[in-house]
Amino acid sequence: RPGAAGWVPDDPARRDVEHLREAARACRGCELWEPATQVVFSAGAASGRVALVGEQPGDSEDRRGVPFVGPAGRLLQEAVAEAGLAREDVYVTNAVKHFRFTQSAPGKRRIHATPDAGHVTACLPWLTAELAAVDPEVVVVLGATAGRALLGPSFRVTKERGVVLERETSRGPKRFVATIHPSAVLRTPDDQRAQARDGLVADLRVAVAALG
Ligand code: URA
Ligand code: SF4
Repeated sequence: RPGAAGWVPDDPARRDVEHLREAARACRGCELWEPATQVVFSAGAASGRVALVGEQPGDSEDRRGVPFVGPAGRLLQEAVAEAGLAREDVYVTNAVKHFRFTQSAPGKRRIHATPDAGHVTACLPWLTAELAAVDPEVVVVLGATAGRALLGPSFRVTKERGVVLERETSRGPKRFVATIHPSAVLRTPDDQRAQARDGLVADLRVAVAALG
């Protein structure tokens, strides 16, 4: 896959979030753009102290062009508020910017398909560029795909969630906190879902506590 690098503006003056968002509309860095409705770039505070990184847009996000506006997004918004984060402190984005899905026939329901490592690698230049622009104090990694993008292929959320990890970035050392994806909370069986949700909130509180 050629990757997004060729579509990310080189000019430092055009690497703020709004220019990146505009440029991403033309991205053909992998084949996911074609069946999708539109690119879903990011939302929230372009100078947020916390960046939340999900996997990829879902069906609702693909239709609306905005990340985390479906069921997982509602759960995430509630969890973020419960953890004590104000909206103006939070930037929200995804590791992959187009919705990957399968569909048995045109007009049928579109079923989420996990992006593979090649899609994550292809799309990474956007994520790297936007995190450099936003320069958050803490990056919250939501689930395995974001973990693979930001913390490497051997990263395991279940083993390393809820702790502050320091990694070198283009903007110097940065703090990362991994947690489960809100969609994983929604998929948890009824009798354990509240506990899974509490775990997500607890990990978000770790990110809040890591703010300077
Ligand atoms: N899941 C994600 O990872 N991102 C979204 O934007 C929506 C659902
Ligand atoms: Fe470009 Fe990412 Fe969309 Fe692939 S998923 S076309 S790399 S924006």
